[in-house]
Amino acid sequence: MRPKSTRVVSGIQPTGNLHLGNYLGAVKQWVAMQDDIQAGGGETMYFIADLHALTQPITPADLRANTIEVTATLVAAGIDPDRSILFNQTRVPAHSELAWLLNNVARVGWLNRMTQFKDKAGKNREGASVGLYDYPVLMAADVLLYNATHVPVGDDQKQHLELARDIAAKFNLDYQTDLFTLPEPLVSTAAPRIMSLRDANAKMSKSNPSEQSRVNLTDSDDVIADKFKKAKTDPDLLPASVDELDGRAEAKNLLAIFAALSDRTPADVLADYAGKGFGAFKPALADLAVAKLGPIRNELTRLLADPSAIDAILEKGAARARDLAAPTLQAAQEAMGLLA
Ligand code: TYM
Repeated sequence: MRPKSTRVVSGIQPTGNLHLGNYLGAVKQWVAMQDDIQAGGGETMYFIADLHALTQPITPADLRANTIEVTATLVAAGIDPDRSILFNQTRVPAHSELAWLLNNVARVGWLNRMTQFKDKAGKNREGASVGLYDYPVLMAADVLLYNATHVPVGDDQKQHLELARDIAAKFNLDYQTDLFTLPEPLVSTAAPRIMSLRDANAKMSKSNPSEQSRVNLTDSDDVIADKFKKAKTDPDLLPASVDELDGRAEAKNLLAIFAALSDRTPADVLADYAGKGFGAFKPALADLAVAKLGPIRNELTRLLADPSAIDAILEKGAARARDLAAPTLQAAQEAMGLLA
């Protein structure tokens, strides 16, 4: 059941449209890894975290529609369902089953340290769902089930993966086994945390009430361009070196987006714009974003014309995932004394 070589596993929640932060922080890496990892004989598995989406209010109709739309977005962005295993958690019940087993390994003190729970629950902790609190344990199950070696994520998920490593290590120790592989988080160096276009102290996120704060992968060319042109900046010119951007969070964020979209380093991009103002930089960024994101949106629109084909992709991926998951779940049940 242990993978002989690299196995990349990662997930995304179907809580709304994917945005530029999801794309640059996660999905772009997933697509690149599909080629690199498979060239080395490894495997890539990507899933829609529909069970995680239940942890905060969402209507059944939205959850159903978003699951199809997010899957189609991944395919439009370059995830090839014939080469990567693409599925949704619900169709692989072993995720939930392993999560329950791991609930008895994870400690309350560990979960109390999770910053995302504190952020998402806000002041109304008593009113948060138990699922929101337990969310990181399901996430641990998601990756441990497949003995993932690497998990490409944005910076905001790193703490959850460190918890997954702690859970794996404690399980292995408590039950005197080497069943679980400790997964390595892979945080994109180019775009670890893309920030809101309206407030560079907040990350770009699906839950921000301001549409202007994020670029969605469904936005039209005009909307993409408009959001970048209206992005918050400062009146200063762009400097010659990245160090001189310290204290200019908005400028840094737009530069990071430009660099990540064009596969260049921020220093390299600055070499073209040093001494120029945002009046020159923003339209160039808008054009670049339209050139990179427009084709993904057009392909997404085409794919959404046939939702049953998207559903079939998820079912086919889930059948493969179920086969890979079954031996690990069974070994965990045996190790814990649930099965002879
Ligand atoms: P989610 O759905 O919030 O985000 C999906 C991926 O996008 C990354 N991301 C960002 N990266 C850079 N800048 C941003 N502003 C930004 N916003 C989001 C996230 O870090 C993530 O990689 N809990 C996960 C889903 C999940 C999962 C897993 C991930 C469930 N099980 C197992 C990895 C392994 C989540 O809510 O991601």
